[in-house]
Amino acid sequence: HSSRTVWWVHTARDPGQQPFAEEARQLLARLPHARVCIYYTAPDLEIAGGPGITHGRMTSDGIRELGIPADAHAYLCGPESFMSTVTSALQRAGLSSSNIHTEVFGALAAINPGITHTGSGPPHQPPGPRGTGPSVTFARSGLSTGWSERYATLLELAEACEVPTRWSCRTGVCHTCATPLLTGQVEYTTQPLEDPASGEVLPCCSIPTTDVLLDL
Ligand code: FES
Repeated sequence: HSSRTVWWVHTARDPGQQPFAEEARQLLARLPHARVCIYYTAPDLEIAGGPGITHGRMTSDGIRELGIPADAHAYLCGPESFMSTVTSALQRAGLSSSNIHTEVFGALAAINPGITHTGSGPPHQPPGPRGTGPSVTFARSGLSTGWSERYATLLELAEACEVPTRWSCRTGVCHTCATPLLTGQVEYTTQPLEDPASGEVLPCCSIPTTDVLLDL
């Protein structure tokens, strides 16, 4: 095993949404000089803090306080906004840009709902009987339909209607699908890793709880 010091720094909303947590714990336990720092961002989390556990977001000051040496190599993976915050923090902590290696979790930097149309025709009513749930209106597509529990998410309904969409992870992590919610309310079936911007929703992991008007 490597005798180098390895920092494992991970942010998750809560322990239930921490991918590969057990695998990572076991692998880190085999490294003689591993240091673990996990951030949980859910505001209402009721678990004890403790060594290596921090409640709240990873901040620039927090990263500096880790004491990562300036000649360390950093390997980052996450949504673009997270990566740029952490990259800047590491640079301020003295790491050289050439030692900061990144992999964006998410396909696209720009979020511009409504420009990707992979369907073969104009938006249309979804197949089968009209849903009896709240009304879902896709404003740019000029289409209104009823929500149906046949669909796991608003993104699935949009796809069934061939409404232009943009997405990548489909699990509330990358924010590629972020869409302005013009009116109405949704609830998340999978809690996003980070909340979308005010006024936006993530259709890939949400369903309507009232009539909704989406900018799609
Ligand atoms: S597609 Fe990644 S958050 Fe929706």
